[in-house]
Amino acid sequence: MKSQEVRSKFLSFFKEKKHSIVPSAPLVLKDDPSLMFVNSGMAPFKEYFLGNAEPKNSRIADSQKCLRVSGKHNDLEEVGYDTYHHTLFEMLGNWSFGDYFKKEAIAWSWELLTEVYGIDKDILYVTVFEGDKNDGTTMDQEAFDLWKQFFPEDRILMGNKKDNFWEMGEQGPCGPCSEIHVDIRSAEEKAKVDGKTLINMDHPQVVEIWNLVFMQYNRKASGALEPLPNKHIDTGMGFERLCMVLQDVKSNYDTDVFTPIIREIETITDKEYGKDEKIDVAIRVISDHVRAVAFSIADGQLPSNTGAGYVIRRILRRAIRYSFTFLDQKDPFIYRLVDVLSTKMGEAFPELKVQKQLIENVIKEEEASFLRTLEQGLVLLDGIVKSVSNDTVSGEKAFELYDTYGFPIDLTALILSEQGLKLDEKGFKEQLEKQKMRSRAASEMSTDDWTILIDDAVQEFIGYDALEAKVKITRYRKVSSKKDGDMYQLVFNLTPFYAEGGGQVGDKGYLEDGNGNITYILDTKKENNVVMHFAKDLPENLNETFMASVDSKQRYRTECNHTATHLMHQALREILGSHVEQKGSAVHSKYLRFDFSHFSKLTPEEIRDVEIFVNARIAGKLPLQEKRNIPMDQALEEGAIALFGEKYGDTVRMVRFGQSIELCGGTHVKNTGDIWFFKIVSEGAVAAGIRRIEAITNDALKDYFVDINKTFVEMKSLLNNNEPVKAIQNLQEENSSLKKQVEALLKDKAKNLKGDLKNELSDINGIQFLAKKIDLDAGGIKDLCFELGSQFDNLFLLFGAENEGKALLSCYVSKGLVESKGLNAGQIVRELGKHIQGGGGGQPFFATAGGKNPGGIEAALEAAKSYL
Ligand code: ALA
Repeated sequence: MKSQEVRSKFLSFFKEKKHSIVPSAPLVLKDDPSLMFVNSGMAPFKEYFLGNAEPKNSRIADSQKCLRVSGKHNDLEEVGYDTYHHTLFEMLGNWSFGDYFKKEAIAWSWELLTEVYGIDKDILYVTVFEGDKNDGTTMDQEAFDLWKQFFPEDRILMGNKKDNFWEMGEQGPCGPCSEIHVDIRSAEEKAKVDGKTLINMDHPQVVEIWNLVFMQYNRKASGALEPLPNKHIDTGMGFERLCMVLQDVKSNYDTDVFTPIIREIETITDKEYGKDEKIDVAIRVISDHVRAVAFSIADGQLPSNTGAGYVIRRILRRAIRYSFTFLDQKDPFIYRLVDVLSTKMGEAFPELKVQKQLIENVIKEEEASFLRTLEQGLVLLDGIVKSVSNDTVSGEKAFELYDTYGFPIDLTALILSEQGLKLDEKGFKEQLEKQKMRSRAASEMSTDDWTILIDDAVQEFIGYDALEAKVKITRYRKVSSKKDGDMYQLVFNLTPFYAEGGGQVGDKGYLEDGNGNITYILDTKKENNVVMHFAKDLPENLNETFMASVDSKQRYRTECNHTATHLMHQALREILGSHVEQKGSAVHSKYLRFDFSHFSKLTPEEIRDVEIFVNARIAGKLPLQEKRNIPMDQALEEGAIALFGEKYGDTVRMVRFGQSIELCGGTHVKNTGDIWFFKIVSEGAVAAGIRRIEAITNDALKDYFVDINKTFVEMKSLLNNNEPVKAIQNLQEENSSLKKQVEALLKDKAKNLKGDLKNELSDINGIQFLAKKIDLDAGGIKDLCFELGSQFDNLFLLFGAENEGKALLSCYVSKGLVESKGLNAGQIVRELGKHIQGGGGGQPFFATAGGKNPGGIEAALEAAKSYL
């Protein structure tokens, strides 16, 4: 069964069981600071488990892209060495939110695996939670009994808390789980070793394929468990492992998910998979990592130097390092695998197809730059190797190479061992630990538990229509960090404050109690669908009703920039082409910033055209046409642009100004006329194939014009002219004619000087010698030397000059003297350079030295004379 079919059978099976099928959420979630990347199928639905929102359908199924490369789940360093772990994988999942529970979840998993996929039941095992004394939980008899209908008892195994109790995090919904394992070893091996003894023992052919989690408890901050009012189902099946079983192969890498990529690597590198373990590991690493990196870029997470971007960069560098060392690849080639990847997976994940060129460009650029780093690192390492006094390279040196130059430590170790040298690994680890401590200390943050005042989790945002409202505080907590000190996060029953999202900054404003006491709200952010208002202090009486007011001026300026962003997005797609994809946006009150895919610098004409396009729509006074809570399909049908890398709910909000139609949760002006005017202030590159524009509107633009005008008026007054352009042209012409005159005068001066200097030459041991300080620049001195040189064949000149506080020595030696007497201008200036606290060099017949001590020139001239 082809992988496409495996995936679609899963989804249609659960569709028949009345589940809504949703697309995979992007790999990076914007309102969950606890997760760098989505690492399991349930992560995008956390708000439903936490009770912060309600799904439209209580049954959902999907295939979710997951990345396990950071935090609690990190498989990165294993990938390549075994045949069943991945950085990026698909998790097939079905969910029930307070709807069906164990009975259906178990029966359907059995039906799907054995009847739909036709897996032989004799290769299956299941595990059931055995209970935990400390938690006060008992063995999951219910699950055991349900499985017994399908399995002989000896294939139902007990599992402990580590394997069979699944928790979302330190706190929150959790519960026992049942895992389904497969044993795909040969009959011979099975006869030798009982499969039961290999469950959860890291055997490559006895692996877990599906985890059914029965969410029935809530883990409280105290660590105690309490039963949940509603019970939920959360399941996750490893898609690539399921393909391995159904395609009757022994490794995920032998399924059609990976083989096309592996064949392509073989063709490009001329290496063969399956012959040599070292090469195989490298090929597995590359075929796995290219998927992780390509999907991340498609979801808007580009490689960078910080945070999630840095993790992506490290994954790609790991792949480059393996290809460099084990596949002898010294030129970029991983980007060439994107073609086959997008052909193979583009149907299920259209983001790969649409953004193929961007993904290729970004990967290629990263490869080229890291390969340069590797080459440089090799040279540096060579220097280190030459300078070691014993057989060990210190941890500090290796760390410097790793930290400052990005050179991978295992490559350092490998190269050293090839040369019979050792690496002080302990010293290296100490340095690494020190650095980690430094960055941890800088970013350390502690968060208190929520204090609940009113148990009302679902709050309403009313800020599209109102900037003020009477509110109650429902809960609050304190967060402390080095950067901001202590801050309080307040949650209201309803709020007019817009929480940072979709690029738009969070609102500021204040709370006022009945006695006129004010608490300032400094920022507003969202976490798992909860809007949190940040304050430096807590209001006095937390149980009062407060008047919550948004800073309307800041909001209005921000709205001007947000609407202008939409108009500019439309302009870019019209003027540059529909390949333009939004890749990032920051909408502040003072400016807007917009990143987008495009492959060349915008010309001044294109920039002007974009400005004209946007300003025409501002002048056209287009009203805001907004549709809240419409189904996604309807919005797309009406022509709305959905962005890759954004997670959209069941229903969406559609924002329209004329022909600009976007799915957007942000706030906007009521009419484009409010924006007043739009101006691009900068355009540049942020990465390969990604451009960035910064622009301003309204008040910021008024200030800009006032400033420009002020400068202009000053300029006119300085030029004493009403036609400044003409005046500047005149000045330029005058300047260039003066330059020519100065050059001619200098030439004359040099000529005269030459005549004078000839008379000053003295004969020392048959050599025409002159050492003198003169008033010419470096070019003038050089000309002079060569002109004098053409008239004598036994000349030794040393000129000193002082220019802007710096000293210059120039030495000329006739070629004949270089040969007959072994005089060498390069060596001479290097030696004399010490007098002027500097250094230099050049050729045997002409060389110069620069230094910072003009006071030493005389001494240098004297030294030359005595030397001769
Ligand atoms: N959330 C469960 C897991 O990730 C299904 O294993």
